[in-house]
Amino acid sequence: MLQMTLKDRIRKKSATIGVIGLGYVGLPLAVEYAAKGFRAVGIDVDQRKVDSVNSGENYIDDVDSEVLAELVKRSRLSARSDYECISSLDVILITVPTPFTKSKEPDISYILAATEGIAKSLRTGQLVILKSTTFPNTTEAHVLPILEGTGLKVGKDFFLAFSPERIDPGNKKFTTANTPVVVGGVTKACTELACLATEQVVSKAIPVSSPKVAEMEKLLENIFRSVNIALVNELAQLCDRIGGIDIWEVIESAKTKPFGYMPFYPGPGIGGHCILIDPYYLAWVARQYDFQTKFITLAAETNENMPFYVKNMILREISLLPVSLTDAKILILGIAFKRDVDDTRHSPALKVMELLLQENARNISYNDPHVPSVEVDSQRFESVPITKALLSSADCVVITTDHSSYDYHMILRHSRLVVDTRNATRGLQTGACRIVRLGNRV
Ligand SMILES: NC(=O)c1ccc[n+]([C@@H]2O[C@H](COP(=O)([O-])OP(=O)(O)OC[C@H]3O[C@@H](n4cnc5c(N)ncnc54)[C@H](O)[C@@H]3O)[C@@H](O)[C@H]2O)c1
Repeated sequence: MLQMTLKDRIRKKSATIGVIGLGYVGLPLAVEYAAKGFRAVGIDVDQRKVDSVNSGENYIDDVDSEVLAELVKRSRLSARSDYECISSLDVILITVPTPFTKSKEPDISYILAATEGIAKSLRTGQLVILKSTTFPNTTEAHVLPILEGTGLKVGKDFFLAFSPERIDPGNKKFTTANTPVVVGGVTKACTELACLATEQVVSKAIPVSSPKVAEMEKLLENIFRSVNIALVNELAQLCDRIGGIDIWEVIESAKTKPFGYMPFYPGPGIGGHCILIDPYYLAWVARQYDFQTKFITLAAETNENMPFYVKNMILREISLLPVSLTDAKILILGIAFKRDVDDTRHSPALKVMELLLQENARNISYNDPHVPSVEVDSQRFESVPITKALLSSADCVVITTDHSSYDYHMILRHSRLVVDTRNATRGLQTGACRIVRLGNRV
C-alpha cells in the first residue's frame, strides 16, 4: 500500500525529493528533479552553498545557472542547512563525501551523519537512496541499522537502495540525463521504487539483486580505470627509459584495433574524489576477509607515484639550465585534477607543486582558468594571467592539466622549456622551445 502511494506520487511528480549534500553530485541531481517538475529540497551543512542556492546562484560548472535561478524563483528548488524538513520528503538521496583517512582507510562518517539526520524524523512511506561511492555492504551493514533503529522496517515501512552516481564533471556528451544508472535495493520493492525514482531524471535504471552488487559494481568501474591508467603510466616510464618510443603514438596506434582494446592515457597522476580513493576502499574491505588486493593496490601506488616522477622530470630539466632550482621560475599550467573542471581535490598538479616546494623551489606560479586560487603547503597562490612576458620569463613551463581553453601554439611560441605531462602539445611546431613530454624521451 505504502509502495503504491509512493509510486503514484513519483509518477505524478507530486513527490518531494530531498538531496543531502549539494556538491558536484548533489546539486546537478536536485536541479534535474526540479526541472522535471518535482519539488526538490537540498540539505547541506555548508551554509554558503545553501545561501547560494536560495539566492539562485550556481556554483557547479555542469549546472546551467539560468535554469537553477529560474527553478529557485519558481520555488521548485530550495536549500537548507538543517534536517528539519526530512518528514516532508518522499525520496531522499544521500550524496555526501566519502573520503579516506590519512592512513587511507574509508571514512564513511559523512554517510553516517546524514543517515542519523534522516533517522531522527524518518516516517513510513519514504525511500532513501544512498548515492555516495562506498565499500560493499555499507548500505546494509551501516545505513540500514540506523534507519531500522527507529522501529520502522525496511521494505515494509520505508525503502532503501544503493545507486551509485556516474556523473563525469566536464563531460558534455554524457550527463545525468543520458547516463544509465545501476540500482540495488535491500528488498525487491526497494529496487522497484528506486528504479522508478531514478528514471524520472535518468534515461535508464539497471536493477541488480542487492545494494552490495551495486556498491561493488561502482568500485569495479573506478578501479578498472585506475588499473588501466596505471598500466599506461608504467609503460610511459618504460618508454622514457628506453628512449625514442612515444607512448602517445603507441596508444594512438593500439586504438586502431576495433575490438578488445580501450585507450587510457598516462599523466601526472590521478586526482578527484573517486578513482584515487576507491581502490583503498576495496583493499580495506578485502583485508577483513584475509584477502590482499595486490594488483589493485599496486595500480593505485603506481598512479600515486606519478607526481614524484613528474617532479623528477622537472628537476632533471632544470638541472640542465644555468639557474638553480631555488631561483628557477616554474610556471604550472592547470591545477584542477582534470581538463575543464574546477575541482582540485587530490589534484596531481597540487602534489607536483608541493613536491617542488619541498625541494626548495621558491619561484613557482600557476595559471588555471577554472581555479582562481589554491593553497599548497600552507602557502596561498593566485592564478596568474598567461601573457607572452610571463611565458618568456619562465625557465620551465609545466603542463599539468590540459584545459581546452589554453592556446598551446602561443604557449610554445613564447616559452623556452615546456614539460608536457598530457601530450597537449602533440603535433605543434616547437620553434625555439624545448618540449619534454611524459612518455616520450627523445
Ligand atoms: N564528483 C564526482 O565526479 C563524483 C562522481 C561519482 C560519484 N561521486 C561520489 O559522490 C559522493 C559525493 O561527491 P561530490 O563530488 O558531490 O562531493 P562534494 O564534496 O562536492 O559534495 C558533498 C557535499 O556534502 C556536504 N555534506 C557533508 N556532510 C554533510 C551532511 N552530514 N549533511 C549534509 N550535507 C553534507 C558537503 O558540504 C558538500 O557540499 C562521493 O561519494 C563521491 O565519491 C562523485
